[in-house]
Amino acid sequence: MLDHEQILIRRGPRSGLPVIIALHSTALGPAAGGLRLWHYPDWRDGLTDALRLSAAMTLKFAVTGLASGGGKTVVALPPGTWLDPARRRDVLHDVADQIDSLGGTYTVGPDVGTSPADMAVIGEVTPHVFCKPKHLGGSGDSSPHTAHGTLAALRAVSRRLYGESDLKGLRLGLIGLGHVGEHLARLLAAEGAHLTVTDIDPAKMKIADELGAAWSSPEEIVSTDVDILVPAALGGLLTTQVVGQLHCRAVVGPANNQLDTPETAELLHQRGILWIPDHVASAGGAVHAITTEVHHATPDEALARVQAIEGTVTELLRTADDLHVTLAQAGHEMAQRRIRAAAGLVPAEG
Ligand SMILES: NC(=O)c1ccc[n+]([C@@H]2O[C@H](COP(=O)([O-])OP(=O)(O)OC[C@H]3O[C@@H](n4cnc5c(N)ncnc54)[C@H](O)[C@@H]3O)[C@@H](O)[C@H]2O)c1
Repeated sequence: MLDHEQILIRRGPRSGLPVIIALHSTALGPAAGGLRLWHYPDWRDGLTDALRLSAAMTLKFAVTGLASGGGKTVVALPPGTWLDPARRRDVLHDVADQIDSLGGTYTVGPDVGTSPADMAVIGEVTPHVFCKPKHLGGSGDSSPHTAHGTLAALRAVSRRLYGESDLKGLRLGLIGLGHVGEHLARLLAAEGAHLTVTDIDPAKMKIADELGAAWSSPEEIVSTDVDILVPAALGGLLTTQVVGQLHCRAVVGPANNQLDTPETAELLHQRGILWIPDHVASAGGAVHAITTEVHHATPDEALARVQAIEGTVTELLRTADDLHVTLAQAGHEMAQRRIRAAAGLVPAEG
């Protein structure tokens, strides 16, 4: 059964490349979601990704209480294709035309393979774009806001585990000191958390030194005795084998697609480890960008929306308890409830 409202596939007239836009749902409001410019063995693999990722955006916005729907754009580059600056511009303008033709039903932002600078090029053609650089009126780099959202999720989990949202003295294992990870490490160090950190890039050791954090290897950190493990590197960390090695009470981090398969959430649940779904723990950047640029909120209102992730996680924990399900299943349930209420199928909750 087709779950999506609309799928647009067009060969870009300038670039000759397939531009795929998947609009999963506009039940909660106009759709939003990033542009993925990535290599795929076949353009149909790009379509599969667009379908999956747009549905994940619907879930992310619904769980975090944003009045936006899920969409995603994928430009499927054939293997080995390299885009010189002129061809990249052509691709971005092909994407922009297609987005503009939707008349505001969908707004695009950056994703894997694209940046705020690319959003500026799209913005030459259509206003339906977010995360342009700050000097062009956009909200720019979203990673500091993503880090603040993860901090909010950590507070809710800390309250659940230890009765206090204060992170002082908590032992945290942080994996990945990139754009988000470094911001998060600085926020956590300022809170007085005891940090053990790692990165595959040894140059990041100087951040650990500066913050007084212990350094571990990427292999060892997963079995280190900590209160909460914080994945902030690439996806796919949580495999059956890694879950068996964990020595923590919760896993809460901004990395996307942390589970190797959805069933691994059940494994974590059986081991009594709280796993906050990544679409919630990583939502701060998207929530901030869309609240300011699409919903035109003030900076204070946008900050409040990011901090509200603490309340979302608390609600998620309560729903999981009430329904005796995993937090991932609770997230699905909360999202479906909001979408059904918006569609007028059931009364909205108080
Ligand atoms: N940037 C955002 O606003 C944002 C928003 C939502 C989700 N995310 C997700 O958060 C994660 C981090 O994003 P980012 O923008 O900081 O990326 P980044 O590329 O800046 O940082 C990733 C860091 O992880 C390190 N790393 C890679 N593999 C590793 C491994 N196996 N072990 C330890 N370290 C490893 C890299 O060396 C790098 O320092 C990604 O999964 C991303 O999809 C980011």
